[in-house]
Amino acid sequence: MSGNGAIAPALGWHRLLAHLDRGTILVLGGQGSGKTSLARWLVGQLGRGLDRVALVDCDPGQSTIGVPGCLGLALTGPWEAPAALWFVGSTSPPGHLLPSVVGAARLAARARAAGAQAVILDTSGLVAGGAARTLHYHLAHAAEVDQVVAIGGNGGRGAGAGGAAVEALVGLLQGEGRQVERVSGSAAARDRGPGARRDHREARFAAHLQGARTRWVSPRRVFGSDWGRGAAEGLAEGTVVGFLDGEGFCLGLGIVEEVHADRVAVYTAVADVPVVRLQAGSFRIDREGRELPAAGEPESRGDAGEGEPENGRGGPDADAGASGGRPLRLAERG
Ligand SMILES: Nc1ncnc2c1ncn2[C@@H]1O[C@H](COP(=O)(O)OP(=O)(O)O)[C@@H](O)[C@H]1O
Ligand SMILES: [Mg+2]
Repeated sequence: MSGNGAIAPALGWHRLLAHLDRGTILVLGGQGSGKTSLARWLVGQLGRGLDRVALVDCDPGQSTIGVPGCLGLALTGPWEAPAALWFVGSTSPPGHLLPSVVGAARLAARARAAGAQAVILDTSGLVAGGAARTLHYHLAHAAEVDQVVAIGGNGGRGAGAGGAAVEALVGLLQGEGRQVERVSGSAAARDRGPGARRDHREARFAAHLQGARTRWVSPRRVFGSDWGRGAAEGLAEGTVVGFLDGEGFCLGLGIVEEVHADRVAVYTAVADVPVVRLQAGSFRIDREGRELPAAGEPESRGDAGEGEPENGRGGPDADAGASGGRPLRLAERG
């Protein structure tokens, strides 16, 4: 959901509250089914009876906590300011399942360490196919999910094409002994479409880059999108990097702008915090937050460039490696 606009509870949402308990709750559903709206409503409702509840945004594309390319944790209402971020390196989970799983687990653990009695995990719309099953099976274990709320399983309202896929995921997670609650999607829920989703990401990138300036870092601290050290010379201009702290959490994003033998220029609003490494992602943006095409993609800004979470292919969302655009050459040192 966009953040504006009131959330209208759908049929059965209030009934949910009688069945959900403190613990870790995974909200599952297809793209545009209303997961984020339901997760935000739940965290508000559960927060009335508990000292502390937390919301973990596990969608690195349509982010509502922090910035796309990352997963985010919020510990206080209105559940927008990130208490912690985890760098995924892509705006779509396929091809980035490991950081998606580890990030969700680390953020949920951090929420519990901060005293959260209930942790709600809002997920991406990736519900169909092997990547979706692999992601959710391992995410549920790693993040210690004990309750699942599924929207639109069993062909209910809001099921869309993803209804059968959601039900297959429910079977997988329920087989592990978790409590499952099914709800209908809200009549107000709608898939905003690829153009609006891209607009959402770009607006959030732009907001994240407010106050950014060029910061020079040592190439020794830059890790490539294959997580190898010293890969700075292979990075294309515009490649998004995450500034990571000593615990692996992300302090914010930057954009690679120049690579020299002894220094790398990164455009970022991250400042005055200890940074352990800069981790390259596999997508590119410009200073205004606009997404740039990956390697071999035309400059067109049509809808076709967006990777659909359903199939995990496409431009900036695809796992194409940080190879798009003009490769930056190491400057000769004289
Ligand atoms: N219960 C609801 N009340 C009002 N609007 C809703 C509700 N559920 C979904 N929507 C609208 O539908 C769109 C998609 O909902 P969202 O919760 O973002 O879905 P998802 O997270 O599954 O992609 C949003 O623009 C949101 O405003
Ligand atoms: Mg969402």
